[in-house]
Amino acid sequence: MPNIIFANTKGGSGKTTAALTLTSELLAAGAHVALLEGDPNRPLARWAERRGAPVIDGPKTRVGSAADAAVAIREAAGDSKLLVITTDNDDEAVLDWLQAAQGWGTFVIADPEGSPNQWLAQVISQAHLVLVPFAPTTLDANQVARTIRQINQTERISSKAIPHRIVITRANPGAVMTRDERDIRKSLLENALPLMDVSLADRPAFRGMFKHDALLSELTPDQVGGLPQARSNAAAFAEEIIEILRQPAAQKAA
Ligand SMILES: Nc1ncnc2c1ncn2[C@@H]1O[C@H](COP(=O)(O)OP(=O)(O)OP(=O)(O)O)[C@@H](O)[C@H]1O
Ligand SMILES: [Mg+2]
Repeated sequence: MPNIIFANTKGGSGKTTAALTLTSELLAAGAHVALLEGDPNRPLARWAERRGAPVIDGPKTRVGSAADAAVAIREAAGDSKLLVITTDNDDEAVLDWLQAAQGWGTFVIADPEGSPNQWLAQVISQAHLVLVPFAPTTLDANQVARTIRQINQTERISSKAIPHRIVITRANPGAVMTRDERDIRKSLLENALPLMDVSLADRPAFRGMFKHDALLSELTPDQVGGLPQARSNAAAFAEEIIEILRQPAAQKAA
């Protein structure tokens, strides 16, 4: 089952928000989603706990193999379609959790903390798709280049291609693309950097999932504005990701 990781060594680039947006869409389409969380602040685990969704505390559960992890996942998940597994940066069991989560879920979505570390390298090595969120507001294209270099390095070490795309996040939500975004797209493409067609706009509904402990499909218009636009943006975002995963490069990875 595909393993997707949101990676950008720059903090605050929109990884966790994009991960939950994609999760929302996949769950609404009937998938089982395992979220593998590498961020010690545990935003996804805390969100899931507030909803009463199952969360596995990896370091406390201590598994010795992927088979152990699979048992722990089955027990914790029950009939839930969503499961969050938190793991530490230095967790030796991260690949066991990842493998077991892939056996359980239709999709595994990994959300690391915003700095380079061993966890990130290990999970990237197993990815079918690495998405690199880039919020142009942070004006930090260097960090995108750095993350891409880390992906390229992992490709060389593991002698295989790891499909990856940059995704522009927190884009201006207007109907017409801003000149800033057009310029950024042009410069990324000129540098032969792979870029998703769909950007994720900066919308209250995407923040609202955390504020209201909700999935996008559960938010109501009195909670957040621009809900139809956020939903159609999220649907297009998920659709493009599914399309990328169907391509032979992603089928061959991991
Ligand atoms: N598409 C979006 N629309 C609205 N707000 C967003 C969007 N993406 C991110 N944000 C906001 O930007 C901030 C950073 O986003 P987020 O936490 O998703 O980034 P991150 O890359 O996971 O950060 P970290 O590196 O700290 O884990 C948050 O306040 C979040 O609510
Ligand atoms: Mg985050």
